[in-house]
Amino acid sequence: MNTLECIKTRHSTRKFKADQVSRELIDQVLDAGRRAPSGGNTQLTHFMVITNQNVLNELVTLVQEEYGKMPITENTLPYMVNIIKMSAEGKFVFNYGAPVLIVLASKPSYANNFADVSCAMQNMMLACNELDLGSCWVNQIRHLQDNERIQAKMRELGLGEDEKVYASLAIGYPDLPNGLNRREIEPKGYKVTYVD
Ligand SMILES: Cc1cc2nc3c(=O)[nH]c(=O)nc-3n(C[C@H](O)[C@H](O)[C@H](O)COP(=O)(O)O)c2cc1C
Repeated sequence: MNTLECIKTRHSTRKFKADQVSRELIDQVLDAGRRAPSGGNTQLTHFMVITNQNVLNELVTLVQEEYGKMPITENTLPYMVNIIKMSAEGKFVFNYGAPVLIVLASKPSYANNFADVSCAMQNMMLACNELDLGSCWVNQIRHLQDNERIQAKMRELGLGEDEKVYASLAIGYPDLPNGLNRREIEPKGYKVTYVD
């Protein structure tokens, strides 16, 4: 697959097999993330690779418990209403049961934190597509980055005192009828302005 094909056919996977991904494949994905550009070549992104199922289950439960407590008001976005309700019922599995979660952290004091993390995320999602793995950006650990319980858990797992979580990527083998969710869909949004 060439690069443009890889970009065009990448799509999010939201159903995973429980099968663990080999360390060799995980390291290839990680390597793609670590080769992403960073502002001033600072390379401040911290990649936390979680494959321990007990830890992943704990994170799923923590996310459920914390979302489940959130009040639903008239300003709550519809997708969040759904997540809060599912969490309260213990049914929201934010990582879709994927056996690998790569959590990306950086320093809040560093102005390009989220930009650098996003570059690494895209590189890793493309690497997954190339390597026949499914992936999905999952935002919940970032959304709860200031939540005491989530923060304490992440610190226990190695998050630095001067770091916060900015993104996470669920990775695994897709559990889909056609195998991979690899397909080409023409994007319909986005505004493009040519100035010739
Ligand atoms: C910043 C960001 C946050 C996202 N958060 C989530 C998420 O929490 N859960 C999820 O299922 N997908 C999440 N996604 C995936 C998007 O929903 C997905 O990329 C988009 O719908 C386009 O679909 P595609 O990836 O299949 O092309 C996120 C994507 C981005 C870029």
